[in-house]
Amino acid sequence: MASILEKIAAHLQTHRMAAWEGTFRDYLSLVLQQPTLAQRAHARLYSMIHTAGVRVDEAGKEHYAFFERDLFGIDEPLAKVVEYFKAAALGSDVGRRILLLYGPPSSGKSQLVILLKRGLEEFAHTDAGAVYAIADCPQHEDPLNLVPHALRREFQEETGIHIEGELCPLCALTLREKYQGDIYKVLVRRVFFSEKERCGIGTFVPSDPKSQDIAELVGSIDLSTIGDYGSESDPRAYRFDGELNVANRGMMEFIEMLKADERFLYVLLTLAQEKNIKTGRFPLIYADECVIAHTNETEFNEFLADKKSEALHDRMIMVRIPYNLKVSQEERIYEKLLRQTNMQHLHIAPHALRVAAIFAILSRLEEPKTAGLTLLKKLKLYDGEDVEGFRQKDLKLIQEQTEREGMDGISPRFIINRISSSLIKPDARCINPIDILRAIRDGMESQGQFKKADRERYHQLIAEARREYDEIARNDVQKAFFVSFEQEASTLVDNYLDNVEAYLDHTKLTDPITGEEVPPDEKLMRSLEQKVHVPEHGKDSFRNEIFRKVAMAHRHGEKFDYTTHEKLKEAIEKQLFEERRDTIKLTISARSPDTEQVRKLNDVVETLIAREGYCSECANELLKYVSSLLAREK
Ligand SMILES: Nc1ncnc2c1ncn2[C@@H]1O[C@H](COP(=O)(O)OP(=O)(O)O)[C@@H](O)[C@H]1O
Ligand SMILES: [Mg+2]
Repeated sequence: MASILEKIAAHLQTHRMAAWEGTFRDYLSLVLQQPTLAQRAHARLYSMIHTAGVRVDEAGKEHYAFFERDLFGIDEPLAKVVEYFKAAALGSDVGRRILLLYGPPSSGKSQLVILLKRGLEEFAHTDAGAVYAIADCPQHEDPLNLVPHALRREFQEETGIHIEGELCPLCALTLREKYQGDIYKVLVRRVFFSEKERCGIGTFVPSDPKSQDIAELVGSIDLSTIGDYGSESDPRAYRFDGELNVANRGMMEFIEMLKADERFLYVLLTLAQEKNIKTGRFPLIYADECVIAHTNETEFNEFLADKKSEALHDRMIMVRIPYNLKVSQEERIYEKLLRQTNMQHLHIAPHALRVAAIFAILSRLEEPKTAGLTLLKKLKLYDGEDVEGFRQKDLKLIQEQTEREGMDGISPRFIINRISSSLIKPDARCINPIDILRAIRDGMESQGQFKKADRERYHQLIAEARREYDEIARNDVQKAFFVSFEQEASTLVDNYLDNVEAYLDHTKLTDPITGEEVPPDEKLMRSLEQKVHVPEHGKDSFRNEIFRKVAMAHRHGEKFDYTTHEKLKEAIEKQLFEERRDTIKLTISARSPDTEQVRKLNDVVETLIAREGYCSECANELLKYVSSLLAREK
């Protein structure tokens, strides 16, 4: 509790609502101290992203902290987006183009834009991102636009700041009438971007193209005030409240851009290209804003194929936002989305999200073209694991052989919806990997969105994800049965060494129970040795070698345990696992377990809960499941 209060206090410190009001003359001295105040929209966005932190990996690729908490596994497309801001910030011509994000549904396009919008709001509260505007201008006009053209060259020579904007009609009028042209007297204020308060951030969603009014973008005449001003072209009789006016100096989001009527697209393009808003009422109105649009791929392709829109094509920078292709990152997406639901009291069994993620990623991968590379191996390689026959360095070539990987397949949203639908069942308390796979399969059947061929392929992939889970499940159970693995391993090693010693010395052992003298247990020794392929004719030298090692350890005052000799260790582990397999099978498959078995089962469940994050429900489900797996093996 206390810590959140402190955090809020710290937040208020760094985000102090530093109200500031002064004349343009005061403002100029601020700008001269901190020239970044004069940065334009694209530069502001770029510096916002940069300020949050950049990490360069071994391959020289950049990763941005700004996106890291909300967007996972799509660092490459994000780098392209940042590249756009960077080039635009440096004044390149790309700043005069619209940034168009396209990709499959639910690939994170909206999320990306939301981050930029929220980021801008936050940034405007900091010193580095502070924004000042001519007071009461509906477009929160850049005060530097007051500098007369005649002085701008000298201004740049002295300050390094290039001014390119024009005063909006309203500010021009105020300057004339209220300030009699004395720019030094014009009132300037610090402003805080806010989408809600329609300052610095505009959003446009196309609706019915026939009835949607262009005024939504560019503002409109205020009919009620024309009488007061006597003319339709008096700026005071105009409402500069279109989304493009609002977005001046910040950013403009255009949702589902390609669904919009062409009239809207052209206004947008003029804005990007000429930095002007066309209204028909006034000479062009200068505006400086970053236009970011997004759309799904189907519409994007139609747009590309449409000859009529060719002129628009080169006025956009198109960045493809595909699905993430890394299992571990996909899990993070699910965790994030589940945190946003109200189902947090429900238990998600270990591996459940991973298994769902395996299926989702499999559905997005293209069939490998390299011999020996299976879909599953590719999936593991992509997530940073080396697999038999392939290493991380092969990735580049493998990726080059793909065409549109990440643009098809199952979206994170679909998986989350399926998980939710199985979690809202009244008696649900816990969801395990098999529940999720089942929910996904049922969803494929009941929702009409999948073509038959896709459905069939997805069914195979569900089976594949399940086979992966079988391995994981078996492993968890084995580990849980081995609470005292170390203990058992060391008993077995001691036993083996006693026998080897007797064998090499040609002596006998004493049976610990009967006290009788017995010959060395050849069967026990051979059983271990065969696990690591020691042949009959090689056993003497193997036993001698082991014994030398024991003697050496002894001489150095070190303890010889089962891990000292690599081969022996392997033999011991194999032996124990093999013995266990039968015990496990017998214990968890017993129809009416005896008291010893019941005790063991309880221990195993306890271990799963304490060490692996199971709850009693999913731990018991796991045992049942592995039991059915073992029953199917011969
Ligand atoms: N790579 C990703 N990393 C993190 N979250 C993601 C990713 N892709 C999708 N999501 C999440 O999935 C949901 C749907 O994404 P959204 O941005 O609405 O998709 P789009 O606009 O591309 O259709 C969002 O909650 C988003 O945060
Ligand atoms: Mg969207």
